[in-house]
Amino acid sequence: MPSVLVTRRLPSSVLSRLQSVADVDVHRGEGPIAPDELRRRIADTAGLVCFSTDAIDRAVLEAAPQLRVIANVAVGYDNIDVAQARSRGVIVSNTPDVLTESVADFTWGLILAITRRLAEGERLVRRGEWKGWAFDLMLGSELRGKQLGLIGFGRIGRAVASRAPAFGMRVAFTARGDVAAETGDFPGESMSLDRLLITSDVISLHVPLTPDTRHLIDKRALARMKRSAFLINTARGSVIDEAALAWALQQHLIAGAALDVYENEPAVHADLLPLENVLLVPHLASGTTETRSTMAELAIDNVIEVLAGRAPLTPVL
Ligand code: GLV
Repeated sequence: MPSVLVTRRLPSSVLSRLQSVADVDVHRGEGPIAPDELRRRIADTAGLVCFSTDAIDRAVLEAAPQLRVIANVAVGYDNIDVAQARSRGVIVSNTPDVLTESVADFTWGLILAITRRLAEGERLVRRGEWKGWAFDLMLGSELRGKQLGLIGFGRIGRAVASRAPAFGMRVAFTARGDVAAETGDFPGESMSLDRLLITSDVISLHVPLTPDTRHLIDKRALARMKRSAFLINTARGSVIDEAALAWALQQHLIAGAALDVYENEPAVHADLLPLENVLLVPHLASGTTETRSTMAELAIDNVIEVLAGRAPLTPVL
């Protein structure tokens, strides 16, 4: 049987399907597998099931001459050198669609939490500093009648947009030409990044991390946003220049930010930690029991398909 390395523990029901067609080596440690251990354990494997916390770079690919498939258990695949993999004939797959609704729900959770100051209020209560109901205690911002600006309008951006009418928000979006052309009569106004930054009340990021989107939200972009606006990130940390964001929040150039992802996870920029106007959560957007197991199932199916000589269900093209 071909061998497959899985870099984190997965539910046994999912693993057992893989075990029926492959010799499976699972890294059972708490954190991610160390890079040198990954290179050692991948030497004879035909399949790799990995996660956004694993850097699958040229050195890893060079250490894996038998590798035929890399199945990332994530929709984003900025952790993989896809061009290198392709040049070696290694197929790469990801897990699109299955996490779209869960990430969109979570994005709205962050929007509501930051605009209504939920985490800040919770911190006050836990510190024992709540003095009782007050007419003007921790007033938030209303969503109704405001503009939600979506940077990136692929599957997740659109799922976020589809929930906007429930909160009375109108949608603006900016998207790559090919994506914008497909949006047809989707309710929402396509606009330039600059105009979206200047006019939106809540801005949410839904672009993949690529050389073009790295630090897309920098000092200049933050300075264009309304002082009353909020920034939400469930995409990838490096789409935002975290140091610039900390500066903008300190200066109250924007009203607040809610972050699920960071430039150097699990580290968070030290200047963000003391700020009350930022909500910080640990990369949870797809994290429901249902979605995580469906993601694992899909990744395993992709490996099974490729090892059987068929095309994967969700290749990275
Ligand atoms: C998670 O971050 C993913 O890309 O699925």
